[in-house]
Amino acid sequence: MQRKFLLLTLVLIVLAGCSKKSIPDKSVSKKNQTTKSVAIIPESLKLGSRLYATKCGNCHGLKRTDEFTSAAWLPIMDRMAVEARLSESEKASILAYVQAYSKK
Ligand code: HEC
Repeated sequence: MQRKFLLLTLVLIVLAGCSKKSIPDKSVSKKNQTTKSVAIIPESLKLGSRLYATKCGNCHGLKRTDEFTSAAWLPIMDRMAVEARLSESEKASILAYVQAYSKK
């Protein structure tokens, strides 16, 4: 009788173990989704995206690009290009990137 109880407990533990496994599986597929959406950045904006990440986070952390409209980014980039000592081409690449992901 005791052995049956032990067996039942074991089965329950195994079942519980299986149902727990399905939770991390879900988070893995969610992670894949975010990776995908990051990878969607078109080739033409990749340089701007990389420059933005390396040049624009030092003083205040990276600002959300969708916090500002495309029009609002223009004067901000004029100020920040000076702050970050960007070349004209770096400024143009970053501007194209932030405007592409700006507030609609
Ligand atoms: C040398 C430091 C420095 C660097 C580098 C820098 N910033 Fe700034 N940034 C500031 C300061 C200081 C402010 C707040 C004063 C202001 O708005 O001019 C600011 C403010 C901002 C704001 C908020 C503006 C607003 O009107 O609310 C944005 C957006 C921004 N920066 C984006 C950028 C981007 C994009 C880059 C890269 C090209 C960058 N920053 C690089 C110092 C910096």
